[in-house]
Amino acid sequence: MGADRAADRAAGTAADRAAGTAADRAAGRGTGAARVVVTGGSGFVGRHLARALAERGDEVTVFDISPPHPSGIADGVRYVTGDVRDIDALSTVIDGGIDVVYHLAAVVGVDLYLARPLDVVDINLIGTRHVLELAERASAKVIFTSTSEVFGKNPGVPWSEDADRLLGSTATDRWSYATSKALAEHLIFAFARQRGLRASIIRYFNLYGPGQRPAFLVSRSIHRALRGVPPVVYDDGGQTRSFTYIDDAVSATLAIADAAAAEGESFNVGCSDEMSIGHAVKLIVELTGCALEVVPVDTRRRFGDTYQDLSRRIPDTTKVRTLLGWQSTVPLHDGLAATIEWARANPWWLEQPDTAFA
Ligand SMILES: NC(=O)c1ccc[n+]([C@@H]2O[C@H](COP(=O)([O-])OP(=O)(O)OC[C@H]3O[C@@H](n4cnc5c(N)ncnc54)[C@H](O)[C@@H]3O)[C@@H](O)[C@H]2O)c1
Repeated sequence: MGADRAADRAAGTAADRAAGTAADRAAGRGTGAARVVVTGGSGFVGRHLARALAERGDEVTVFDISPPHPSGIADGVRYVTGDVRDIDALSTVIDGGIDVVYHLAAVVGVDLYLARPLDVVDINLIGTRHVLELAERASAKVIFTSTSEVFGKNPGVPWSEDADRLLGSTATDRWSYATSKALAEHLIFAFARQRGLRASIIRYFNLYGPGQRPAFLVSRSIHRALRGVPPVVYDDGGQTRSFTYIDDAVSATLAIADAAAAEGESFNVGCSDEMSIGHAVKLIVELTGCALEVVPVDTRRRFGDTYQDLSRRIPDTTKVRTLLGWQSTVPLHDGLAATIEWARANPWWLEQPDTAFA
C-alpha cells in the first residue's frame, strides 16, 4: 500500500487528526478511555506499553502465556494467563466490549528461533489468526507488532515500508521468525481489505531499554559489563543498526493506535541514526565505567559458513513522520544511561542467564 494513498487519507489539519483520534478512542464509551487487550504484555515491550496505556486511563488486560516479573506489574492492569494458540482462552479477554487489541505475543530472539522454530511459526500464524477472528467479531481495532526482520538481507537500506524482502533458505531456522511475521502481516492486510477489519502494522527496529531479556546486543552487553564479563562483538563490529529506545517505541505505538489515518497501513518505527555495533558496545562499556576490553568473535570460525549477519539494518521513517508527526527523541547515550541505571537497581535482572550464543 502506498504512502501516497496514506498521505491522502491523512490530509487535513493536525486538529482534524487529533479530533479523529479522540473520537476513535472514545468509540462507544463516552469516557475517552478505551478497553484494550495487550497480548504478550508480560514481555519487554508489553510491560512498558501496558503501563503507558493504564497511565493514560485505558482499561488494560494483559494476556500472556507467562505472568510478568513482579517488578513489571503495573497498577490498574489486569493480568490473564493464556496461550494465543488457544482461541477459547483468548475469547475470554477479546470480547464484545474491547476497542483495541495490541497483539505482541511472539517468540522473540535468535536464540529462541533456533531452539523453538515450531512455536515461532505457530504463535505468529495461529495466534494472529485467532486475534483477528476475535477482533473482527468484537469490532475491535488490531495493532500488530512486526519487525524489521521481514526485510531480511535486502541491501537497499534505508528500507521504506514497501521495500522488497530478501530472506534466506527455509532450511535455516533463523528465518522462521521473519517469514511467519511476514505471513501474519499478509493475514492482517487480507482481513483489512477483504473484511474491513481496522488494523495497523508496526515494524520495530532494534529496541532496547529496561527489562529486556539479556539476549540482544544492548541488553546482553550491559548484562555482561555490569557482571564484569567482557562484552562481545561479532567480527569487526562494523555492522550498523538503528537502536531505538523503548519509550520511543511506546509513543509511536500509541500514535499509530490512536490515528484513524493509520488503519490499513504498515509503519517502520525506529531511530533514524545509523550506528555501528562496535561503537554502541564501546559506549556501553564507557557508560558502565567498567574497565573491560570488548572481545571480537570470529563468526565464521565459531558458527561455520551457514552463519548470516546483516551488514546494515536501517529504517526509512518518512511515513510515520509525515503521516503522524512521530519521530524518535531519545539519543542512544541517554537511553543507554537510563537502561544501565535501571539494571544496577534491579539485581534480579543481572542474575538472569545469558542465553545468547557465543
Ligand atoms: N524487542 C525488539 O527489538 C523487537 C523488534 C521487532 C519486533 N518486536 C516485536 O515486539 C513484540 C514484543 O517483543 P518483546 O521484545 O517484548 O519480546 P518478549 O519476548 O519480551 O515478549 C513476548 C511476550 O509474548 C509472550 N508469549 C509468547 N508466546 C505466547 C503465546 N503463545 N501466548 C501468549 N503469550 C505469548 C511471552 O511470554 C512474552 O511475555 C513481539 O511481537 C516482537 O516480535 C520486538
